[in-house]
Amino acid sequence: MAAGDSFYITTPIFYGNDVPHIGHAYTEVASDVLARWHRQRGDDTWFLTGTDEHGQKILRTAVANDTSPQAWADNLVETAWKPLLETIDISNDDFIRTTEQRHEKAVTVFLQKLYDDGHIYSGEYEGYYCVGCEEYKQLDDLMETKDGDYAGQLVCKIHSRPVEILKEKNYFFRMSAFEDRLLDLYENTPGFVQPASVRNEIIQFVKQGLDDLSISRSSFDWGIKVPWDDSHVVYVWFDALLNYITAVGYGVDDEQFERRWPAVHIVGKDIARFHAVIWPAMLMAAGLEVPKAVFGHGWLLVGGEKMSKSKLTGIAPEQITDTFGADAFRYYFLRAINFGQDGSFSWEDLSARYHAELANGFGNLASRVTAMVTRYYGGVVPSPGEYSDRDLAIQSTLQDAVTTADAAIERLAIHDAIAAIWTVVDELNGYITLEEPWVLAKSDETRERLGTVLYTVTEGLRALAVLLSPVIPTATEKLWASLGAADGLGALPEQSIRDAGRWGQLPVGSAVSPLEALFPRIEVAAE
Ligand code: ME8
Ligand code: MG
Repeated sequence: MAAGDSFYITTPIFYGNDVPHIGHAYTEVASDVLARWHRQRGDDTWFLTGTDEHGQKILRTAVANDTSPQAWADNLVETAWKPLLETIDISNDDFIRTTEQRHEKAVTVFLQKLYDDGHIYSGEYEGYYCVGCEEYKQLDDLMETKDGDYAGQLVCKIHSRPVEILKEKNYFFRMSAFEDRLLDLYENTPGFVQPASVRNEIIQFVKQGLDDLSISRSSFDWGIKVPWDDSHVVYVWFDALLNYITAVGYGVDDEQFERRWPAVHIVGKDIARFHAVIWPAMLMAAGLEVPKAVFGHGWLLVGGEKMSKSKLTGIAPEQITDTFGADAFRYYFLRAINFGQDGSFSWEDLSARYHAELANGFGNLASRVTAMVTRYYGGVVPSPGEYSDRDLAIQSTLQDAVTTADAAIERLAIHDAIAAIWTVVDELNGYITLEEPWVLAKSDETRERLGTVLYTVTEGLRALAVLLSPVIPTATEKLWASLGAADGLGALPEQSIRDAGRWGQLPVGSAVSPLEALFPRIEVAAE
């Protein structure tokens, strides 16, 4: 992708029936790092997130709490979902709620078009439904439980709760008509569904044959009314998926829509089917472009099972950020888990990586370097003399790291990008140990060498601030300020990622000030 291209990235819109846990926060931070990286690459970036507020799940929660679904969602969005974005430092450009006018209107336009073009017919649905998933289920998706509260019943494999039997007159979307086109899409655009494990599963699923999809419900009325029959509301997933286009002007603002669409969708693998099968079929029916990619990331596990609200295994993001901070949260989940694979969270692992990598590795490097420039040069960045092979090796490690990290981001391999950048942290720490600037500082004869060494590490920190700013925006801002870099180079988020390896950008003479520990040691009370 060339710099300056359009990059539109989305998270799922989360159900507003309950509060967020670290699984939702994980999707948010991954998407946020990608958005920030692309902005710093100069791409025309747009980052959308939001909430999914129709359907039975929310309706039932609201009723159980003696309130209306709208009031329930309003409250959770304001007290939990929007604050989550602050807690973990999310830089979204927009937040869409499916109960907003702009969404409801555009859904109506879309649906009417599909109806007029013959993609929708009326029929009878009879089958299973899981309200937890808001999904029509096949027998394959269910299992019979032997014991517990639901012994002998068919339960959803994901929620472990009984499914319901539905028998309703519904409107159907002729999804089966798109089977071949979908298989062609997966075949011809291998990056459409990622990672490979999810792609294979999707191809298997579609090859078994696609049914038409029931897209309306008439037994309750919390939803968007079907435009030609107001005794039906639109099936919640059909409504929710459309958020990705209604938020960027579909049917209302053609210029904005042209500029943004198609998107890269970051989702959990639990909902990859909706995004990689139903959604592109809907778009094909409407004559619109399919997404650029659907990436189904892995699950955060607790005791080997997907962490979930419905199973009460959710950990609130603030439990982590209150102690370790937002930067550590962001860094930890993106570094410790290969993006695309499942991962188990543990306090011990978080604390170990925090101390080894953030406090001792990066934070300590930043404190030592700024302290030495302060002590030996009165806080003025010295000019380098002639570069030795070891100095030049740092410069080429940095160049390689930039190239490798940028290519990793292109593949959505966020963990690889961070690992590549970390080679620079490690090299700089090793360099300081070998060069011993505190020894060089003892004699006037080694003064020039000291200047070269300190310029090298200070300039190295300049580059690290730029490269790590998408991942740990708060710490890198502090570092940027301490390097006095803004005077010569401008604001940190404006720095070009791809240019980060070009040596010699931090002006000689920049005013460095000492830095408090970026990642102070934490005495952990493991929970
Ligand atoms: O499915 N590990 O919303 P939802 C990793 N409203 N990620 C997790 C996770 C875990 N244990 N648990 C949840 C919906 N997630 C629909 C989406 S989109 C048009 C509609 C994350 O609130 C992950 O991104 O159930 C997963 O796909 C999403 O939350 C499901 O959120
Ligand atoms: Mg869910």
